[in-house]
This record gives sequence, C-alpha cells and structure tokens, in this order.
Amino acid sequence: SRRRGHGGRALVTYRRGRRRTGMSQTNGKRDGDGTGDAAREDWKAVVADEYARRSGVYAAPDETSFPLIASSIFSEEIIAAVDSMLSGQLTMANNVREFEQAFAKYVGAPFAVMCNSGSSANLLALAALTNHLRSKKLCAGDEVLIPAVCWSTSLWPIVQMGLIPVFVDVDVATMNVDLDDLEARITDKTRGVLAVHVLGNMCDMDRLMDICARRDLLLVEDTCESLGSTYGGKCVGTFGSFGSYSFYFSHHITTGEGGMVVCQTQEDADLVRCLRAHGWTRELSNKDELHEQNAHIDSRFMFVNVGYNLRPMEISGAVGKCQLLRLDSMNANRKENRERLLRALQSHDKWNDQFRFPVAPNASADPAWFGFVAVLRRDLQKRLPTYLEFLTRHKIENRPIISGNFVHQPAIKTLGLSVDPNGYPGSDELGTCGFFIGVHTYRLSDAQISYLADTMLAFDFDCAVNRKVVLVTGGSGLVGRALKEHVKTSANTNDSWIFTSSKDADLCSYDETKRLFERYRPTHVIHLAVKLMAGGDMSKMAASLIQDNNAINANVLRCAHEIDCDKVVSVLSSFAYPKDVSLPITEKRLHDGPCHPLYESYGSSKRNLEILSRAYRAQHGRKFVTVIPSNIFGTISQLREGGPVIDALMSKAAQSAATGSEFTCRGTGAPCRQFCYAPDLARVLIWSLEHYDEEEPINVAGEEISIRAVAELIANMFGVEKRLSFDASFPDGPMYRTLSDDKLRRLYEGYEQTDFETALRSVVARVINA
Ligand SMILES: Cc1ncc(COP(=O)(O)O)c(C=O)c1O
Repeated sequence: SRRRGHGGRALVTYRRGRRRTGMSQTNGKRDGDGTGDAAREDWKAVVADEYARRSGVYAAPDETSFPLIASSIFSEEIIAAVDSMLSGQLTMANNVREFEQAFAKYVGAPFAVMCNSGSSANLLALAALTNHLRSKKLCAGDEVLIPAVCWSTSLWPIVQMGLIPVFVDVDVATMNVDLDDLEARITDKTRGVLAVHVLGNMCDMDRLMDICARRDLLLVEDTCESLGSTYGGKCVGTFGSFGSYSFYFSHHITTGEGGMVVCQTQEDADLVRCLRAHGWTRELSNKDELHEQNAHIDSRFMFVNVGYNLRPMEISGAVGKCQLLRLDSMNANRKENRERLLRALQSHDKWNDQFRFPVAPNASADPAWFGFVAVLRRDLQKRLPTYLEFLTRHKIENRPIISGNFVHQPAIKTLGLSVDPNGYPGSDELGTCGFFIGVHTYRLSDAQISYLADTMLAFDFDCAVNRKVVLVTGGSGLVGRALKEHVKTSANTNDSWIFTSSKDADLCSYDETKRLFERYRPTHVIHLAVKLMAGGDMSKMAASLIQDNNAINANVLRCAHEIDCDKVVSVLSSFAYPKDVSLPITEKRLHDGPCHPLYESYGSSKRNLEILSRAYRAQHGRKFVTVIPSNIFGTISQLREGGPVIDALMSKAAQSAATGSEFTCRGTGAPCRQFCYAPDLARVLIWSLEHYDEEEPINVAGEEISIRAVAELIANMFGVEKRLSFDASFPDGPMYRTLSDDKLRRLYEGYEQTDFETALRSVVARVINA
C-alpha cells in the first residue's frame, strides 16, 4: 500500500504468506521449530504489514495539509529499531558505532561521535574546546562570535563554558552570518567563531575560513539544520574543529532525538568520547596506556576527565543507519520541491514581489534546504502575524526563522551581556519579516505545488495594508463597552478589535504592556485605561493615582511607538482643565493654570498624557492624539453611589425606589454640567482614529443641563419624584464647566449627539431591567 503523499518509497519489501509450520518457502530449510531463517524473518513481515496498514498515521493528513514535516520513518527504521530492542542491547553499542562510521564517511570527516541531541553535540564541542586537557583551548572570558540568528543551544554552551558570546548580525540574503560585521566585531579577546548554518544555507565559507586562519580563531559549525549542504563539494560541518548535527524529528534525517559531533583529530575525538560518557576511559584510543599507567584503579570504572552522560541509545543508532541511506534522496526532494514552489510563486498571476527568498552565498555553495523560507517585503512587515495566521488556517504550518534576533529573547536580559539591541538590522528584518514552511522529504505533486502557491498568494496584502488591528485599553469600562457595541454593529469587518482589561495585562508594568502589544501587534490603539478612585477618595489616593496613571500612559505610548502603531487616540478628562478658566473652555486652555486641588493628581496625569502624546509626535512623527470628553455617562455594570454624577444619582434613586428612602441630592442642584453619552463618545473615537490628526486635543462636550434637571428626570424615571430633595448644606461646585465643542463640530461633518433625555431614558431602562 502507498503512503499518502509519499509516493511509496520503501527500500525493502518483506513478504508475508509463509505458513507458520512446515517447509520454509524461502530456502527450503525445515522451519517447524520456529528457529529457522524464515521464522526469524516472519516478524519483520508482520511489522512491515502493520506499518503499511498504519502508514496514514505517519503522512500528512491530506493532500492540502502541509505540516512542517511528515514523518520520514519507514518500515525499515521500525524493523531496525525492533530488531535492536529484541537483541537485548539497549545501550550504545554496535549500531551506534556503525552509524558513526557511516556518518563520518558520508560527511567526509575523520571522526564522528553520536550523542543524544544536537544540543548535546554543541555542548560536547564547546566542552571539548575549553577542556583543560586540550592542547589548544579556549579559556573562560574569551570572546566567541555567534550570529544573532541562532538556536538557543547554539548559544548556551558558550555561556555555560564561561566564554563571552558576541553577537554578529546576519545577511538577510543568506540568513547566515554577515562576514563584514563579523570582522568588525573581532577584538583582541576574540578566540572563536560559532557559525550556525541556518535552515540549510551557509555563509561564504572561503572567506570565513580565511578570517579564522588570519585571526587564529577556532571554528565550531552548528550544522544541526544543514546536514548534506556542501560548499566547494565539501559537507558543511567539516570545515571547523567541530561540527554538530541534530537528528530531531524535523531535521534532514531523524532518530527522534539524536545528534552527532564530527571533528578532525584523534585528540578531539577522544575528548568528545570521554566527555560524552562520564569522563571514563572505555572508548578512548589510548585506553590501554591509561589503564597501564593507573594499574591501581579498576579499568572498568576509570575516570580521567570531567564528563557528562550524553550517550544515545542503541536503537537511535539502528534508526540512524537506515535514515542515512535515505538522506540523498530526501535532500534531492527538498531541493526540487523548493525550486518548483519558487517557480510557481514567481510565475503566478498574483505574484507582486511579496517575498524575497534566501539565496546561496555564491556558486560554490549547494544548500540542502531545511525549509521553504520567505522574507516579506519590508512595507508588508506589519502584516506578518496576520499572514502567518492565515497560512495556519489554511493548514500550512509555519515557523519563524529560528530565534529571530536572539538579542531580543528574554533570556538575554538575564545574562548581563552588553548588547546593543539596535545593532542587528539584518537579524531584526529576518525576525520580523521572515518565516518558513515545510519543504518536505518526498516529492510534492504538481497539484500540491499549485495549491501551495495559490494559497500563499491568496492573502490580500493590499486589503490587509488598510486593515486595522485596534487594541482598546480599558476595554471593559463604560466607554470600552460602548465601543464594543458600536463595533459589533457598524465597524469595518476587515478590521479586528481587541478589547483588553486589567485581566490581560497590568499596564503599570512595562514588561506586561510590551507582551500585550507584541501579542496583538495593533496598528491602532484607543487608550482608555485609567486608575480612578471616585469622589473624595481622589485626594486620599493622590500619590497612587499619579504614579499609576503616569506609568500606564508612559507604557502604553512607549509600546505603541516601539511596535510602530499607526495611531493612538488617548482619552483625557475635563478634570485636566484648569480650575479657573474662561468659558467656554477651548482646547487651547489646557495648561493655563492649576487643576482643581481635589483632582490635581488625576487631572495632571491626564495633562501629562497630552504632553507625552505631543512629545511622540514631535520627536518621532507619531500620530498620537488626545480627546477630552465632559462627564461621561452610559450603561454601567453596577450602580456606584461614589461614581460620577449620573451614576450616583441613579444609585440613590434606585435605592429610594426599592426601600422608600429619601432621594437626596447634594447641593442646590443649580450648577450646570455637560454630559457626554458613552456611545456618542465611541463614535467620536472611531472617527478620530481615521480623521483627527492634530497635536491639540479635541473636546467632546455633550448636552449642558442643570444637576437639578438631571435629578428630576431620574426621579421621574424611577417614580420617586416625591422623595427628591436638595441638601444645600453641601457646597455647589462651579456653576459652569462648559467645554467648547466648536472644533469637533467643524471637523466631524455630520456629527450628531444623542438627545440627553433619550439617552438617559435608555440608560435608566437598562438599570431597571438589569
Ligand atoms: C541551529 C540549531 N542548533 C541546535 C539545535 C538543537 O538540536 P536538538 O533539538 O537536536 O537538541 C537545533 C534544533 O533545532 C538547531 O536548529
């Protein structure tokens, strides 16, 4: 039976059908006791049949699914694995040795030592290079150059051995180390280079070897992603003192987990073998000599060096031998699939140079591509997360170009290295524009190649360019909820809206804010979040209010800037206006005098937000704008007596209706206030996302009405008119705090605000029905 999508590639076919007793059909031997060759072979046929029966398990689920890789394990591997288990030999023995020999021969290295992973191979290489018994060694404090686009365990062994990693930028065209930058970063402490051959490709190895020779640098090649890639006909991994390889599932060949170190000298091979297994003598070329010199120690447990236990299992050696036989054909398929997909994309009628594709550094290089890598055009960079989601939805599995720029990985902060995060433009570009999908070890059908090209180009980048990802901070508050309702009914369906609250991130923390922004990568932000204590509490909590709100505002604007948001609309408050100010209050008056002392800390944090928004405009050309509403009211989740005016009045009226208590309103009720209905403000915010881009704030005033009239309307709606009274022993605030909304009316053509009574009625109705 053929494995779906794999074109049936078994190397050997075991046949069943022999009878369990009687004469063997194969060689005429009697097989009645079950010990003859035929009986011995019979289980293999059973395994092969069972493999064939289940082969769908190993393959891609269907012709239009593209996992990073489908299993390249076939019945031969399974039979070899079972055979190795049945032999009773679990720990490293002949299979591993034979695999090592075959591998060394394949890559053209004098020595190959297998271990349990590619990470362990890197660890062994660096541990050997720094080992006290090595004749030419690296010492703690020596600098080792490493590309900023690398794998974690390319880097950690450098750190673990007390060496200092020095990141080098990469060349976007090859994804590999930029040799100009590498040369520029050499200092008198530089002793080594850890080259990472990324995703099958390599740098100009002639030039790298020349630099290493001239500057006397020891070279380790992390070849975990590039088994079979050659330069000048020679396998990469064999140029330096050590080369490492990984046999993890998705790699060029697999043993599930597994790795190999190759090296050039007997001294290094002995060192690696010793370090791989406890530091003992068992596999050393000079073990007899060592045993003789130390005759007082039992040679079975003789330790001559520091060491680990990084040995592979025997079963891995057995599987590795089978896999190695497939390597050339699988690599040829990878290469050919890549070329066919490249052609299909570049000749497609939807091709518009959306991507660039990495290339070999020169004609001497022959990469064994690990994945199909594409780098989005820079102007499309912001669309990468959405594009990758799109590919995933269409069952095209994808990954970033390994670490992206490793300098930005959280772990780097913990190491106390001095790295300039802005010094790696190539690595940043690969990290923010690059991705890869599977290139596959079997030949893709023409239909699959067409499907891949069609799907990869079906994403509408033009539409996506105009598509907004709007992140709303404070999305669960009064205005946030009004925005959400508005968006549900009337927003552009292309856009996506993310309403966040304190549950998603503590915006007082830069790290949490950054994580939130990196997660959603918004193109637009409506910043509503605020720490607010109602009424009298405001002055009691003055320090926390100013501290928290300044932190929130600084973090939100900084992260919006850092991830390159197109626009931020921040909502201020009329408390930010001076206490004494001429009426009606225009936007120009914001900084004309101190805020009201009761609201000073809150009001001035809002002023700071306005100053900060202008500062980002001035320094970075950011479109950060601010909106100043009057007293906001709208549907609330719960009545709060200590809340803003309308909340407090509704809360008392509701209580009066429920318990028969008096509905007492503090003060004479004579002062007039403007009330801004939350859904009206929501419309203004959405409008300003598109249309408002001035450095001055813009007022949203709302209808002006006396507090007495509001109290009477509310009393009437709750049916408690008779119990309404005004307690003149409480001081009235200023008679008017009228905001001018001339600017809004001039700029927002067709702006209409909801009639106050209608709005209030709808809010009260929801409270009563809640
Ligand atoms: C460049 C590179 N180095 C090292 C490793 C580690 O290999 P392993 O997963 O076998 O430990 C990987 C794994 O993907 C890798 O890509």
